Amino acid sequence: MCGTNSMGHSAAWKSPGVSGLPNVRVRSDNSHLMAAKDTVVIVLAAGKGTRLKSDLAKVLHPVGGRPLVAHVIRACLPLKAAQILAVVGFQADAVEAAVTPLGAETVVQNPQRGTGHAVQIARKAIRRSAKYAVVVPGDAPLLRTETLAALINTHRSGDAAATILSANLPDPTGYGRIIRKNDNSVAAIVEEGAASDEQRAIPEVNSSIYCFTLEKLWPCLAALKPENVHKELYLTDAIALLNERHERVLAVIAPDPNEILGCNTRESLADVDRIFRRRKASELMDSGVMIYFPETVIADADVTVGRETVIEPGVQLLGATKIGERCLIRTGSIIENSRIDDGVILDAYSVLVESRMAKGSRAGPFARLRPGADLREGARVGNFVEVKKSILHEGAKAPHLTYLGDATIGAGSNIGAGTITCNYDGVHKNPTTIGKNVFIGSDSALVAPVRIGDGAYVAAGSTITENVPADALGIARGRQVIKPGWAAARRREIAKAAKGHGKSAKRRKAKPRRARPRKKSSRRRR
Ligand code: UD1
Ligand code: MG
Repeated sequence: MCGTNSMGHSAAWKSPGVSGLPNVRVRSDNSHLMAAKDTVVIVLAAGKGTRLKSDLAKVLHPVGGRPLVAHVIRACLPLKAAQILAVVGFQADAVEAAVTPLGAETVVQNPQRGTGHAVQIARKAIRRSAKYAVVVPGDAPLLRTETLAALINTHRSGDAAATILSANLPDPTGYGRIIRKNDNSVAAIVEEGAASDEQRAIPEVNSSIYCFTLEKLWPCLAALKPENVHKELYLTDAIALLNERHERVLAVIAPDPNEILGCNTRESLADVDRIFRRRKASELMDSGVMIYFPETVIADADVTVGRETVIEPGVQLLGATKIGERCLIRTGSIIENSRIDDGVILDAYSVLVESRMAKGSRAGPFARLRPGADLREGARVGNFVEVKKSILHEGAKAPHLTYLGDATIGAGSNIGAGTITCNYDGVHKNPTTIGKNVFIGSDSALVAPVRIGDGAYVAAGSTITENVPADALGIARGRQVIKPGWAAARRREIAKAAKGHGKSAKRRKAKPRRARPRKKSSRRRR
C-alpha cells in the first residue's frame, strides 16, 4: 500500500512546521488543556517487537505515514508536561532520531527486561519536580490528547495511586485484563498468558496507558519480580502491589476503544492503519473535501486539502502533500510530498513526487512528475509524459508521450508528441532551455545542452544538437526522397515470384528431381 518508506519522505515541498518542536502542529482544540508542569510523560519505546518479525524496531513502523512513536508523542505534546521521556533500547539511535525532533528526551534501557524495568530505568532521568507520571506505550498511535487529559483529571481528582486507561474490546485476545473489585476500583491486571479461562472472558483490557503518583509507584516497582514466562519485570504487576499497600487504583474506560489499540502484529498494524486513514478521511470531509469511496483513499497524517476539492477512489496522498481548493484528483493517482494549488486537475493514474502544480494547471492521465517538476499557472502535461526537474512556465504544454528532464520551457510553448530532451550524456545531466511561444514539432530529440530561442520552430522529427535562434526554424532530419511507382513495381515482382514458385512445385510432384535455383533477374536500379 504505502511503499518503502514511501513513509520516509524527503522534504521538497514540506510545509514549514512539520518538524522541529517549536513548529510542531497540534490540534487547535486543545488550547483549553492546562499545563501539567508537575507531570512527566514516559514513553515506552525500547522493545524490539518480536511478534512483527521485522528488522525494524516496532515503534518505528509507520501508520498513517508516521512512525508509531511519533503519533504517541504528538498526542502527548499539548498536555504541556514538564518533560517527555522516551525509553529507548532496540535500535536506540534510530528511535532517538525519531523522537528528539518532537522535543522528547531519551534514556537507554539495555537490555530490555520488561515494561516495569523500562519505568525503573526512566527514574534516573526524571526531574525532581515531577509528582505524576503518565506512562504510554510507543505502539498505540490512535491515542487522543483529550483522552489523556481526562485520565490525568480522573487521577488527580480521584486521589488514586494509579489510574489505568482501559477499554472494552470485542476481541480482547493478547491484552492484559482488568480485574475490578466490588467497589469498582482495580485489584490487578492479569496478562493473557497468566489468565484463567474466566479472566480471559473479561472484555475490559489494559491499554498500557496509565497515570501514576510517583512516590507511590517507586516502592512497588522495586518489589517487581520476573515471575512470568518471559522472565520480565511487568509494569502491570505494580497494580496488585499497590493494592497490597492499600493504595487506590482506578480505571477509566476509553470512550472509543480503537484509541488504545496496540500494534504487536502485522495484522494489528494494518488494522490500526486502516482506522487512522478512515479518521483522516473523515477529518478532511468535515472540512469540506469530497472523497468518494473514502475507504479506498489513503491520506497521510500531515496532508492538507482545501475545500470543494474532489478526490476520487483509490487516490494516495502521502507525506507533506498540500492540495488547494476546487481541485479534482482523479482515480488511482499517487501524490507524495507535493504541492498542488487551487483549481488543478490531476487526471487518472498520475504519479507525483516532490513536484508542484500551480493554479489551473493540469496533468495526466498517466503523467509522471518526478522531483522538481514545476508546472506554473495553466501549464499542462498529458498522457505518458514524464517531467523531472523542469519548469513549464505559464500556459506551456506537453500534451503527449514526452520526456522533459532538466528543462525550462517558456510560457506558451508547445511541445509536440514524442519529444525527448536528451539530458544525459552518460556522465553529466545537461540543461535544455526553451524560450517563450516556441513550437517543438513531434518526435524531436533535443540533445542537451541546447537552447531554443523565443518564438522559434523545430521541425517534426528533428534531432537538434545546435542552438536554434529566436524566431528561426530548426530542421535536422534526412531529406525525403520520392520514388514514383516503386511500390506498384515491387508488388508485381512479388506476385511473379509467387507464381514461379507454384509452377516449380507442381513440376516437382509429377517428376521428382532436384530443383535448379532460378536465375534471379537483375535488380532494377533504384
Ligand atoms: C502491554 C501490557 C498489556 C497491555 C498491552 C496494551 C505489560 C506486561 N503488558 O503488553 O497488559 O494490554 O501492553 O497494548 O506491560 N517496552 C520497553 N521495554 C521493555 C519492554 C517493552 O520499552 O523492556 C515497550 C515496547 O517497546 C512497547 C511497550 O513497552 O512500546 C509495550 O510493550 P509490548 O511488548 O507492546 O507489550 P504488550 O505485550 O503489548
Ligand atoms: Mg503492545
